[in-house]
This record gives sequence, structure tokens and C-alpha cells, in this order.
Amino acid sequence: KHVAVLMGGWSSERQVSLWSGEACAKAAERIGYRVTRVDVARDVATVLDRLKPDVALNVLHGRPGEDGTIQGVLEILGIPYSHSGVQASSLAMKKDLAKVMLAAAGVPVPQGRVVSRLEAAKEHVLPRPYVIKPIAEGSSVGVFIVTDGHDHPPQELFREDWTFGEMLLCETFIPGKELTCAVVKDQATDVIEIVPKVRFYDYEAKYAPGGSEHVLPAKIAKDVYQAVQTLTVAAHNALGCRGVTRADFRYDDSRPGIDGLACLEVNTIPGMTETSLVPELAAYAGISFEDLVQWMIEDASF
Ligand code: DAL
Ligand code: MG
Repeated sequence: KHVAVLMGGWSSERQVSLWSGEACAKAAERIGYRVTRVDVARDVATVLDRLKPDVALNVLHGRPGEDGTIQGVLEILGIPYSHSGVQASSLAMKKDLAKVMLAAAGVPVPQGRVVSRLEAAKEHVLPRPYVIKPIAEGSSVGVFIVTDGHDHPPQELFREDWTFGEMLLCETFIPGKELTCAVVKDQATDVIEIVPKVRFYDYEAKYAPGGSEHVLPAKIAKDVYQAVQTLTVAAHNALGCRGVTRADFRYDDSRPGIDGLACLEVNTIPGMTETSLVPELAAYAGISFEDLVQWMIEDASF
């Protein structure tokens, strides 16, 4: 089989995608697939039409690529592709829309509201501590946590070269633990607790080796653990996702039972880098990196 590994692109997560994509391309080659690496640019439709791969392994993070646009091109070209389809990708990419869908399916989400960038920059729009995040970015790019120590909202929001959108999502900061769980081979994996070594699980904590500690299985009560797994599948289904996804949670363990759980988002093309969570969760379930990549390729459809 000829597999085109789509990577790179021009999102803020370009570098992450190049790491993920190279790891997947190497694994696919080890398995025996014929692999073409495609660093996605504006001419991607032409390139793919010429290559005519049997499958596109889509390892793009952010926009374009994780948001349904490339998926649309692949649909039109009739090339089977990995991960979620057009609508699920586009819904999941927009955190504000995704929250509405998740809440409607009974998946708890953090309280919050969407405000303009200037509104968020001028005054505190929620009681501190709260989080300000772009609606459609990944890897914690452009995320601020505003704590009691911050008299003013982050002044970076006033910057003229701000590129993360004019509307922002402000959400109550949920203290406690950062948890993550994936859907792999149509089942929930185990649950990881992430303990960042720096302020929070930001870009550096995500990709610098040793930037965070992963506790697998997470040390939380059994009912909460199982709730995370159930909610991960519910969130995946609520958005109509396909293939592998990863849902990120906060858990305020000072609250009783599962009251403190909230789903932050579903990632439709989760990271596949050295430090990424899905490969670790898969390995824990006895699924090697090669098995995981092979499953993604064989599960591809349109
Ligand atoms: N957005 C990054 C790649 C992730 O969710 O893993
Ligand atoms: Mg994300």
C-alpha cells in the first residue's frame, strides 16, 4: 500500500506535526508500507491528485488539517484518510461549538463564555482564577491562566500581531488534576494523570523531554477513573469522531465523586511525538507504535 503521510502545514503546531508525522512515517516504513511524506502547503490537492496514494495518514495538527478542510479535499479526491471526518473535525477544532455538543450529550464541561479579545484584555471577565484560550488552537498555544496574583488580564492580548483569533474562550480554572484518556481501536484506553514540572501543561511541558510526569494509570478513585473512560467515549461519539481521538479533562479532587470532572476538549488528531500521550496509552494496552500506525492506516475511509 502507498501511504501519504500528511504533516507540517502552517498552523502554530507545524513543528509538532512534523515530529508526529516523521514518527508515523518511520513506523509505516518499518511495517512495510510505501511512504510519501507530504509537507502540506496550498498545493496539497494537486500533489495528492498526482500521487494517488491508497491512503492518507493525516498527522496534521491545528488548522489546516485537523479542522476538516484537508478532510474535505480528501473526500473530493476519493482518497481514504485516517482519523475523523469533515464535520467532526471542524466541530472539535472549535472549542466553543464542541462544548455545546458535549454538554448536550451529558459530558460535563467547564463554565465559561466567549468574549472578544479586547474585552478579555481590558478587564477580568470571570472571577479569578480563570483561563483564557484561543477557540481553535492546540498544544496550549495562546493559553493564559489568570490567577489571584494577576491584577490585570494578560497584556499580550493587546498585541497587534495577535494571530489566535478575535474571539476567545474564557473558562473557570478547575484546580486539581489534569487527566487524559483516548479512544484507540474503538475503545477507551486507560487514564493518564499529567503532572507538569512547570506552571501548567503548556507547550514546553508537552514537548520538552521530562517537561511533565505522566502517571499511568492515574491515581484517582475507581469511579472517577471509569467515568473518565465513559466520558471519553461519549465525547468522541457526541462529536461524531472516527478512529483515534484523545479527550482532555480537569478533575477537582476536592469535590465529591465525579462532580469535579470536566472535559476540556477532544483532540481529533492527537500528538504522535516522542512525548505524546496516545502512543503511551496504546503501549500500556499492549499496542505498539507500529500496531497503532497500522491500525490508523487500515481503518482509513472516506
Ligand atoms: N494538539 C496536540 C498535538 C495534541 O492534542 O496532542
Ligand atoms: Mg488540543
